[in-house]
Amino acid sequence: MSQSSRAVRIHRTGGPEEMVIDTVAVGEPGPGQVRIRHHAIGLNFIDVYQRTGLYNNPLPLQLGMEGAGVVEAVGEGVTHLKVGDRAAYAANPPGSYCDVRVMPAMNVCKLPDAIDFETGAAMMLKGLTAQYLLKKTRPVEGLEPGDFVLFHAAAGGVGLIACQWAKALGLQLIGTAGSDDKCALALAHGAAHAINYRTENFVERVKAITAGKGVKVVYDSVGKDTWEGSLDCLRPFGLMASFGNASGPVAPFAPGILGAKGSLYVTRQTLFTHISSRAATQAMADDLFAVVTSGQVKIRIDQRFALTDVQAAHRSLEARATTGCTILLP
Ligand SMILES: NC(=O)c1ccc[n+]([C@@H]2O[C@H](COP(=O)([O-])OP(=O)(O)OC[C@H]3O[C@@H](n4cnc5c(N)ncnc54)[C@H](OP(=O)(O)O)[C@@H]3O)[C@@H](O)[C@H]2O)c1
Repeated sequence: MSQSSRAVRIHRTGGPEEMVIDTVAVGEPGPGQVRIRHHAIGLNFIDVYQRTGLYNNPLPLQLGMEGAGVVEAVGEGVTHLKVGDRAAYAANPPGSYCDVRVMPAMNVCKLPDAIDFETGAAMMLKGLTAQYLLKKTRPVEGLEPGDFVLFHAAAGGVGLIACQWAKALGLQLIGTAGSDDKCALALAHGAAHAINYRTENFVERVKAITAGKGVKVVYDSVGKDTWEGSLDCLRPFGLMASFGNASGPVAPFAPGILGAKGSLYVTRQTLFTHISSRAATQAMADDLFAVVTSGQVKIRIDQRFALTDVQAAHRSLEARATTGCTILLP
């Protein structure tokens, strides 16, 4: 039985005004797919990269990579979900900005009863990212309780989850953020130190906090504006973990700089490598569900927009006007 859905799509890349609400047909799930009806949809900075064309996709493009809702139909071969299940996901291909969709089941996880739809929609992409960064993206010398790590944009969606999770792991997270209020928020969520990188020199502050030693790892999603400073915050053999470009992509660089700054390591990580199998997705999701249901990590939803107000939601995110997570409500 075919039905229709509202869907936020772009027909060409550009600003928030390129996002329009179309009506699209939604059919039955094929092998390995499910149909899910959303109760809430997660907003992520990656949606901006896809809208502007920084990340390439075929057009027209239905945006969105995170959501939560109820499974309405299950395709052949899907064994981990059944009709009526509450579920949430972070997944490729994009398309979560809608009422209902058919999608690959691989990254769709059953949502524990204790987690509501809004929390589920807000936490999957950002929480799984914090998971793989703190647990699987580690310096060669390892991370021990008490170690310092530097985490940029610490009051954002991924950032506030990382602050809490790092504290639960015993790490001293030094967070940067773009205002004093955001710094206070990062501290209230478990950051050991916070630096307003719009008014303070974050390299000097990190050196002072670490008694001149530097940190073992920098988690950098800001990109262009913080790249060089981040390298200067690392101690010898430290790891530069780049995972985003909120200020623009990092410029090409000569590897010799890594030797000059202390035999550093650099990696560019993406969640989608980590969740490329059902088993890996579920293992990471189980870890995330455990820290959320135990209360160690609280998912803070500071902005809620109607799906039809998606342009305003993107404008807020790009203007650095948001904190914590943002969701769209269908
Ligand atoms: N590779 C991956 O697997 C992966 C997965 C998820 C997210 N990410 C990346 O992680 C970052 C956080 O994602 P999110 O969805 O949680 O977003 P977010 O952190 O809630 O929002 C982005 C934040 O980046 C900071 N920022 C610094 N310079 C900026 C600029 N020129 N323009 C806009 N923002 C700027 C702002 O915080 P301040 O005002 O405090 O500076 C802003 O609030 C993004 O860069 C995203 O692409 C990567």
